[in-house]
Amino acid sequence: MRTENGRIIHLANYRRTDFVLERVDLTFELDPTETRVEARLIFHRREGADRAAPLVLDGDELSLSGLLLDQVEMEAGRYDATPDSLTIRDLPESEPFEITITTLINPEANTQLMGLYRTNGIYCTQCEAEGFRRITYFPDRPDVLAVYTVNIIADRQSCPLLLSNGNFLGGAGYGEEKHFAAWFDPHPKPSYLFALVAGDLGVIEDTFTTMSGREVTLKIYVEHGKEPRAAYAMDALKRSMRWDEEKFGREYDLDIFMIVAVSDFNMGAMENKGLNVFNDKYVLADPETATDQDYANIEAIIAHEYFHNWTGNRITCRDWFQLCLKEGLTVYRDHEFSADQRSRAVKRISEVRLLKSEQFPEDAGPLAHPVRPTKYREINNFYTTTIYEKGSEVTRMIATLVGRDTFRKGMDLYFERHDGEAVTIEDFVGCFETASGRDLSQFSLWYHQAGTPLVSVSTAHDAVNGVFTLSLEQMIPPTPGQSLKEPMHIPLRFGLLAEDGSEMTPAAVAGAEITGDVLHLTGRRQSITFSGVTARPVLSLNRDFSAPINLHFEQSSADLAHIARHDGDLFARWQALSDLALPSLVSAARDARNGKKVTPDPALADTLLALAGDETLEPAFRAQVLALPSEADIAREIGNDNDPDAIRAGREAVFADIAGRDTALFATLFARHRTEGPFAPDAGSAGRRALRNAALGYLAVAEGTPARAVAAFEAADNMTDLSAALTVLVHRFPDAPEAAAALEAFRARFTDNALVLDKWFAIQATVPGESALDRVRDLMENPHFTASNPNRVRALIGTFAFANPTGFNRADGAGYRFLAEQILAIDPKNPQLAARILTAMRSWRSLEGGRADHALNALRSITAAEKLSSDVSDIVDRMTKA
Ligand code: TRP
Ligand code: ZN
Repeated sequence: MRTENGRIIHLANYRRTDFVLERVDLTFELDPTETRVEARLIFHRREGADRAAPLVLDGDELSLSGLLLDQVEMEAGRYDATPDSLTIRDLPESEPFEITITTLINPEANTQLMGLYRTNGIYCTQCEAEGFRRITYFPDRPDVLAVYTVNIIADRQSCPLLLSNGNFLGGAGYGEEKHFAAWFDPHPKPSYLFALVAGDLGVIEDTFTTMSGREVTLKIYVEHGKEPRAAYAMDALKRSMRWDEEKFGREYDLDIFMIVAVSDFNMGAMENKGLNVFNDKYVLADPETATDQDYANIEAIIAHEYFHNWTGNRITCRDWFQLCLKEGLTVYRDHEFSADQRSRAVKRISEVRLLKSEQFPEDAGPLAHPVRPTKYREINNFYTTTIYEKGSEVTRMIATLVGRDTFRKGMDLYFERHDGEAVTIEDFVGCFETASGRDLSQFSLWYHQAGTPLVSVSTAHDAVNGVFTLSLEQMIPPTPGQSLKEPMHIPLRFGLLAEDGSEMTPAAVAGAEITGDVLHLTGRRQSITFSGVTARPVLSLNRDFSAPINLHFEQSSADLAHIARHDGDLFARWQALSDLALPSLVSAARDARNGKKVTPDPALADTLLALAGDETLEPAFRAQVLALPSEADIAREIGNDNDPDAIRAGREAVFADIAGRDTALFATLFARHRTEGPFAPDAGSAGRRALRNAALGYLAVAEGTPARAVAAFEAADNMTDLSAALTVLVHRFPDAPEAAAALEAFRARFTDNALVLDKWFAIQATVPGESALDRVRDLMENPHFTASNPNRVRALIGTFAFANPTGFNRADGAGYRFLAEQILAIDPKNPQLAARILTAMRSWRSLEGGRADHALNALRSITAAEKLSSDVSDIVDRMTKA
């Protein structure tokens, strides 16, 4: 465990290193419990550096077992070694000099999954952000770039495969039982991109010919027997490589690109140079075991990690405050990739759903932080949805502000100016300022001010003079450490809809800069007049979610329904529908809480059913239409004093009302959209399945019996339909014998497939209502549950806490106490995982008083624990700070 629990790192204290690292030579002698690592590091002093300064290297739980200076053993008095640092004094005048460090590490005992660890007999590394210092003493920071040679020595039998970054140099036998391999990565890189994998794995192989005609070998390594399930990932990889060439002019730069899938992994995947390591959940797929969502995730994450080769690896971050420089930008790139591969509007809807359900609550709670923070205690806790998703939205806004072609010019300039460097957000933004000639200093506040801006809108129409007036006011709520905010530059795509649904073109506009269909809101208050507008228009604002904001706009149900039915922008149609639904769901929750009968708004049901039944619209979009705002969406809309039981009861009443209004339509959708023939994971087929399964959810309620879900479960010939039917059955009829039987049949059929059993855990963890906790406790005793595997823990405990509002937020507080217990049990083994799951409680202050008290008590029980990791104590402290 870390010792420097309370230390805060400040951006303002950034300083370059005194020493420049020229070369790194690593030799690993792999052993399950005693791996020997020899690191030869060649340094010289930076020009202008204090020549007496000591060399200070980072470590984490290390012990030094050898230290040489220019191949001669160092005298004890010239250095200090502790588990977390190595300080060397009296370095020679002559340069460069070579330091050789030997450490002994224990991969088997590494349960944090940071540094070098073993998973299912495979040696593997995870170094971002600060894992390399768990392997050897090193200047473990992203602005130290060096060329690496890596030698791996291991048992020939158990480790036929020896992999590292870059290109393969050669290998041979080594004694009786061992062999070795050497790798050389010609591209200077920071230590967080180092990777080593060794073990016995199966492989699928392919090639890719780059735009300049070079042939690159592609390999995906998986456990033996799982090779066929890697085919879709390989296909996604090749499409990603082509797309990056076509859309950004980026070509791959080594002879080989490798992906390794492992089953114990803290996050989704890691972009190590030439050797990506993946959570196997984001590699393995076949129709029998993967849902359409799994396929989409694999495509997106394969692309994401591949795109990092340029945005992250060739150009990296100067320090970890700049994390969004690579993550926000790379998420934006993978979003654009998926939009090009699938339906752009539907992709955008799912992005915005995720942004609103994950990032908006983060930005509105105690963990809120700017996209470019200025301080942190534990960097692992900054791989947040704000850095990733809001970071992506900020990049998207730059593209919106400067226009598509200029955005590409700015990106070209970024690659040209900064290739091979470790840079900052200012460097990135500067490229778009040069390319566009625009001053982006006000825009840059998006990086520095936390909190979701609230834009209040009012409109007036003067029919006599043909003037439409739009008044906008922006307010950015206070967030931890930032009480006062400056007005930001907010790009709002908009349109004025005529009564027949066509787009109106005003004769003139005054009061704001307009570029194309983008209105630039820059003032705190702004009044914009459109002239030559004789008939009253319906304003469609923030089309495509051009800015990640909350809108306060009292638009009438009739106007929202008009947009939902007629807007030219499909995203805007979905957004108008959800804006129509939310007030209805909020008042239903209020009625339910007050014991009043809920009377749903018929305008909502009419519009929703009209869109769902509109055969001219793509099925995937209609499935999104049928997915009412979630319980968490409603809670966010209410804002405070939330009662999750009342929210659910109100939503259920609205859902049942819709289900009962046109059961025939749902039956038709269900019958018509069955996908026949061999399974295809393409977006069109996935959309049909999504629509059909959404209809099944309504039918189960309208019909009130499990029969149809049981039949769907029995007839399903792919995992999407199978798991959807099981979910409807178990969530709607949790106590029915059919539900128990289906769960058991599912378990028995997939007993050897841990990733599928994760779905089985997750479905049960999200059974609504207070009984879920007992189910979760029972499932923790199930032999399929492994407390040391992050996917298992996330599927059961994480899903329960994040995705079961009524189960987790039980009025008696038992859900919170359970989570606190689990956090304390996980923390000593895997602090990163514990801290991440704990963030499920980030919105506890918006709960009604009784629950909030229980939540705070549970958080305090964590604080009171004798020993906490810096990861968990950082989160719990921020969450409980006044
Ligand atoms: N850089 C990785 C990505 O976004 C994610 C990552 C950061 C990560 N830290 C990690 C993955 C720790 C695993 C473990 O693509
Ligand atoms: Zn990333």
